Amino acid sequence: MPRYVALIPAAGSGSRMRAELPKQYAPLAGRPLLQHAVRTLCMHRLIEQVFVVLVPGDVRFGKCDWSGCGAKLSPLYCGGETRAASVFNGLLAANDAIDGADWVLVHDAARPCLCTGDIDRLIAEVGDSETGGLLAVPVADTLKRANAEGEAVQTEAREHLWRAQTPQMFRYRVLIEALRRADIAAVTDESSAVEQTGAKPKLVQGSTNNFKVTYPEDLALAELILKNRG
Ligand code: CTP
Ligand code: MG
Repeated sequence: MPRYVALIPAAGSGSRMRAELPKQYAPLAGRPLLQHAVRTLCMHRLIEQVFVVLVPGDVRFGKCDWSGCGAKLSPLYCGGETRAASVFNGLLAANDAIDGADWVLVHDAARPCLCTGDIDRLIAEVGDSETGGLLAVPVADTLKRANAEGEAVQTEAREHLWRAQTPQMFRYRVLIEALRRADIAAVTDESSAVEQTGAKPKLVQGSTNNFKVTYPEDLALAELILKNRG
């Protein structure tokens, strides 16, 4: 039986947060931001191991309270220049612990509001496929194409357009091969690398709550969601 493991890139600098502390350690609902997603993935009954990719020399991770995560948690100090490089380095570093047919759920540390139900739905809808899939939400807003002056010149059809989230779930062998072949500098998510091989990852409806904390004002919304959840 293939196993499920999670890999969490957490080696960014959070430049758009414009804060001294890297985004993944920003205080959120009483904990460092990355602790929320790490715990949710560690607590999931089907996920056997959770790898967290950190900046080499990160001194903060070891000081966090990881009680409840048990033996599932493995920090990897091999973050790279870009998110895709961090993911690729992490996959290579975890090679001995993962079989080619195992499922890897790659999840941004910066999406703290991931809930167990999202993970359950992704696994239920993708677990039988060969390729894999990702959580995403259909685009709800009307889309405008702008000219160089920032004026609306056209309204684009939003039919069939989705906003990609994470986790993105692929078999280890499929993902590592796709990333090896891709132009890593142009890869913004795992799915795009897999799409380039001709495969068609499944889009699984996610929740808008699972947004990526990017700007300072995003922290208040994430805090509200997490506190409402209890
Ligand atoms: N990430 C990473 N390694 C990098 C860049 C990003 O592991 N070299 C991780 C981040 O820590 C985050 C996730 O990838 O959990 C999504 O990236 P993003 O939201 O862009 O975070 P940052 O790159 O840290 O933020 P910014 O782009 O504002 O600098
Ligand atoms: Mg970034």
